[in-house]
Amino acid sequence: MDDIRIEGGRPLGGTVAIQGSKNAALPMMAASLLHRGVSVLKGCPRIADVFCMEEILKKLGACTWWIDHDLYMDCTNADKTEISGTDTGKMRSSVILLGALLGRSHRGCMGYPGGCVIGERPIDLHLTALRRLGAEIEERPFFVAACGELEGAEIIFPKKSVGATEQGILAAVLAAGETSLVNCAREPEVQWLCRYLRGMGAKIAGDGGDCIRITGVESLNAGNMQVPPDRIVAGTYLCACAATRGCITIENPPEGELDAFLEVYRKMGGQYHIKSGKLLADGTGICHPVPFLETEEYPGFPTDLQSPLLAALVTIPGKSHIMEMIFEDRYKAAYEMNRMGAWITVAGKDAWVEGGYPLHGCTVYAQELRGGAALILAALAAEGKTTVKGYSFIRRGYEHICEDLRALGGIIVKD
Ligand code: EPZ
Repeated sequence: MDDIRIEGGRPLGGTVAIQGSKNAALPMMAASLLHRGVSVLKGCPRIADVFCMEEILKKLGACTWWIDHDLYMDCTNADKTEISGTDTGKMRSSVILLGALLGRSHRGCMGYPGGCVIGERPIDLHLTALRRLGAEIEERPFFVAACGELEGAEIIFPKKSVGATEQGILAAVLAAGETSLVNCAREPEVQWLCRYLRGMGAKIAGDGGDCIRITGVESLNAGNMQVPPDRIVAGTYLCACAATRGCITIENPPEGELDAFLEVYRKMGGQYHIKSGKLLADGTGICHPVPFLETEEYPGFPTDLQSPLLAALVTIPGKSHIMEMIFEDRYKAAYEMNRMGAWITVAGKDAWVEGGYPLHGCTVYAQELRGGAALILAALAAEGKTTVKGYSFIRRGYEHICEDLRALGGIIVKD
């Protein structure tokens, strides 16, 4: 079965450790293609999207193996350059493999990426970045083919894009000459990719701002890095703490990566403090609605925590208002929460919440990753039993959400 069953109505309490970051691990896996040898990602999350990226690397000729949560990738013979649309269609981040294929083999052919149905999700910024570096790219209905020796260039992104920034970085590190990337996304995952590549010998300058300068090198050494804790998973569990008015401890919080979220958490009446490297959160005082909040590129409030936050806001009496500024269709979970008794009005980018109406358990349907996780949170806050269908969406990004929430006292089982 693809269901999760929850019995809600009780505050969460206890300690939880956070898995490795999905959105940091995936570009680092693509970067591993740039070294003709063995690279390792330590503390890598064992989630569906990582397994999917691993399968693609193997089809390109890599050998991979796991020792617990350490993922080894031997890319010595990973010289194939075609990825089927079936494989690329399974997730969004397959698209950044094009930059890595061009960097390694000067050609690549792949299907269009998939990913959560949260909006259009075009790839124009990715292709523009690669063309600026000299790639010749043909686009067809089902695939993109690119070839050419890459040469450093100035790439000015008209809008901030995490994936397109990562695409440009992956293609530029082995390109001839200097590349400057302007108006880059500043998400931590971009910085972690730069750290990983620097560790491989790439010459990347940039202090986390929106400009990154790269001097191409001849080759890269083995990658070897610890995957950072997943800031979105940590934020999801803090939203669960808020929604159930619980008290939880996060053993390994992502340092300095949740500031915008924690500011909102405090405004809602939540309290938290860091003690010996752990984050202690107290949601018992959560009582203030959020009059207005818009999702923004980092360091603003992350779009990936918009749905989990909604699950907390529906429990707080009063009016809250969210504007989703990054993706066009990211309120699917709101309609399911309304079926549980919530009062959320959605119109375009806006969601208006009349919070405080009691939530009751029922059967709800996950349709994408973060919205699915949000439904679990709403179910934990609801009276009675809820079945969340579509666990396959949720397992793409959460390694053990049921075990984690059970460890925090939640009554939750995977069918
Ligand atoms: C990454 O997606 C993350 N995925 C997303 O997390 C996250 O929500 C998003 O960044 C924003 O932070 C991974 O890292 C695998 P974007 P990405 O390019 O790179 C538009 C999750 O739940 N755009 O920063 O696809 C786009 O439509 C996922 O873990 C273009 O117009 O996001 C969006 O409106 C969901 N043209 C905006 O930019 C392009 O070529 C930001 O998208 C590319 C993007």
